[in-house]
Amino acid sequence: MHIYADRVKHMENSAIREILKVTEQPGVITFAGGLPAPELFPLSDIRESYDRVLGAKDPSVLQYGSTEGYLPLREEIAAQMCAKGIKAEADNIFLTNGSQQGLDLLAKLFLNPGDIVLLQNPSYLGAIQTFRSYQANFRAILTNDAGIDLKDLEFSLKHHHPKLIYLAPTYQNPTGTTLPVEERQAIARLAGQYGIPTIEDDPYSELRYEGPVTPTIKSFAADDEVIYLGTFSKTLAPGLRLGWIVGDRKLIAKLIVAKQGTDLHTSTLLQQATHYYLTHFNTSEHVERIRQTYKMRRDLMLQELKVSFPTQVSWTQPTGGMFIWLTLPDGFDTDKLLPRAAAAQVAYVPGIHFYAHNGSHCSMRLNFSNPTPQQIKQGINRLAEILKVN
Ligand SMILES: Cc1ncc(COP(=O)(O)O)c(C=O)c1O
Repeated sequence: MHIYADRVKHMENSAIREILKVTEQPGVITFAGGLPAPELFPLSDIRESYDRVLGAKDPSVLQYGSTEGYLPLREEIAAQMCAKGIKAEADNIFLTNGSQQGLDLLAKLFLNPGDIVLLQNPSYLGAIQTFRSYQANFRAILTNDAGIDLKDLEFSLKHHHPKLIYLAPTYQNPTGTTLPVEERQAIARLAGQYGIPTIEDDPYSELRYEGPVTPTIKSFAADDEVIYLGTFSKTLAPGLRLGWIVGDRKLIAKLIVAKQGTDLHTSTLLQQATHYYLTHFNTSEHVERIRQTYKMRRDLMLQELKVSFPTQVSWTQPTGGMFIWLTLPDGFDTDKLLPRAAAAQVAYVPGIHFYAHNGSHCSMRLNFSNPTPQQIKQGINRLAEILKVN
């Protein structure tokens, strides 16, 4: 019998992984995963990129590399960040194995056991799990119809002394909602005023289906408290495992030490091939194709929900991203409903899993990027039937 470290008690099995196991059975239509549409992966362009960097016969492509990442890729990402209004040079960019590693490294740098993380409630499950594994405590930022309650945020900053703020302000996972511009400005100001590192986790902003581009929180930050996380998972392919952190040089120096202890650096071959891909193919056209497909799927899911679901059920109207958040009337428990859904061969994630604490049992997260239009139609009908017999 092994005696594990105390922190292992705080590491939970991801509920989503357990649910995904059920959904792997044939015939099940799943709205549960957070997966992109695989038919949109630019397979042949990525293959060509790997061929080109390997074909150049420069052995450095297989050599150890620097922990912060391949310089030409960091330069390319810095230019993309500047185009988003974030002031960044290559020295401000740190490559990771996806945003998930970024979250882990930042938690490793900032969190002592018992430290408080302020966050939206619900929030991205993977972030909650990571912070929990570093034995963090949580405090939810209250929300209102417009977004987050800024008075409550300031109250928490003053009285609860959080160590970290975690936000996914654009097309959030799980709700699909987006914080308005004025709130972003206020958050950037408060983060600076109270000196609290604020993680802006932004995997979805490129997946915009309508409405104006919303500037990032980081673009409003006069100082370095706001730390931005980006990823290629949703615009290229999640299986590549490539993301980045934008921060000041002092933070990057600490991240280097933290990542060295984890994996030395992100794959050299992956970074060089991705750099080739970004600089030789029409990436805007590719992202536009993704947008069009997902927009169509979102519209279809919203329409099917309207046609088949009773009026007591409500749902978000995301203007981008991959998720719709559905709320059933009080008394429903979507965790308990799940086996019945699985028996009817349809799956979702019960909303309770996205709350750091005090969660609601009557919500669920539906993904619309991965299922085909036909699956969306059939799956929403199956869900509606289950609710009728409840
Ligand atoms: C809000 C959020 N942050 C981070 C991640 C992790 O992304 P990556 O694949 O870059 O690790 C996800 C993945 O779904 C996410 O939704």
